[in-house]
Amino acid sequence: MAEFSAADLAVEDQYKLMSGAIIPRPIALTVTQGPDGPNVAPFSFFNCIGVSPPMFMIACSPKTGPKSGGSNGEVKDTVANLRDCPEMVVHIVDYELRNKMNACALDFDRDVNEAEIAGFNTAPSVMVTPPRITDCRVQLESKLIDILEMGTLPYYMILGEVVHFHMDDAIINDRLHIDPGALDALGRMAGNGGYTRITDKFEMPFLHPPGSVPPEEAVERAKEFAKTDRD
Ligand SMILES: Cc1cc2nc3c(=O)[nH]c(=O)nc-3n(C[C@H](O)[C@H](O)[C@H](O)COP(=O)(O)O)c2cc1C
Repeated sequence: MAEFSAADLAVEDQYKLMSGAIIPRPIALTVTQGPDGPNVAPFSFFNCIGVSPPMFMIACSPKTGPKSGGSNGEVKDTVANLRDCPEMVVHIVDYELRNKMNACALDFDRDVNEAEIAGFNTAPSVMVTPPRITDCRVQLESKLIDILEMGTLPYYMILGEVVHFHMDDAIINDRLHIDPGALDALGRMAGNGGYTRITDKFEMPFLHPPGSVPPEEAVERAKEFAKTDRD
């Protein structure tokens, strides 16, 4: 095994190991409201936190980014906007919208509406000020819970609460199950140009529900299945 103490690694190398190993990452295409209009940016340091209420996190580097090894303290437009208007709409990006999403990642001035540059269609949201991108199959109208500053750069960990869901009829059934094939969500990997699609699916039995001690029979099944993996 190649071994590294995190404290000995340059910031750029920490970034290579984290973004290369923790894959694939979902992409939050995030609309915030600035003083001069909406702002759109994609973020892949993004995931679900939990429910009751539905909560998620997005981590935003400083404006100069982790690859430059340091920060001049300037924040990205998304963080600046959230400090002024603590609401956002997070969208899941699918393969057919990949180039539009990528156009929104350019480092535009705060007054530029990336939705217009990318050619995204927008509509007013139901419960928040920033508009939503109607091209996306999942649109999550959300309120800011908090922004936590973490690490020395620092990173800005945006914690959000979904208050209203827009889900395309084509991806969801009556029981609220989402069809991953119909969603066709894009996954982010590392480096310039590293992305993936969910084209290789498989199933595994759910051995026992969490929250109670598994019976002996479930433990035996777990052991038998585990033996079939690589040693
Ligand atoms: C697929 C993708 C994922 C990205 N993920 C992140 C991320 O997780 N955190 C981050 O700070 N920047 C990320 N970026 C870069 C931002 O999108 C970029 O800095 C953008 O200009 C920020 O916009 P803003 O200043 O309008 O907030 C990502 C870019 C792309 C294309």
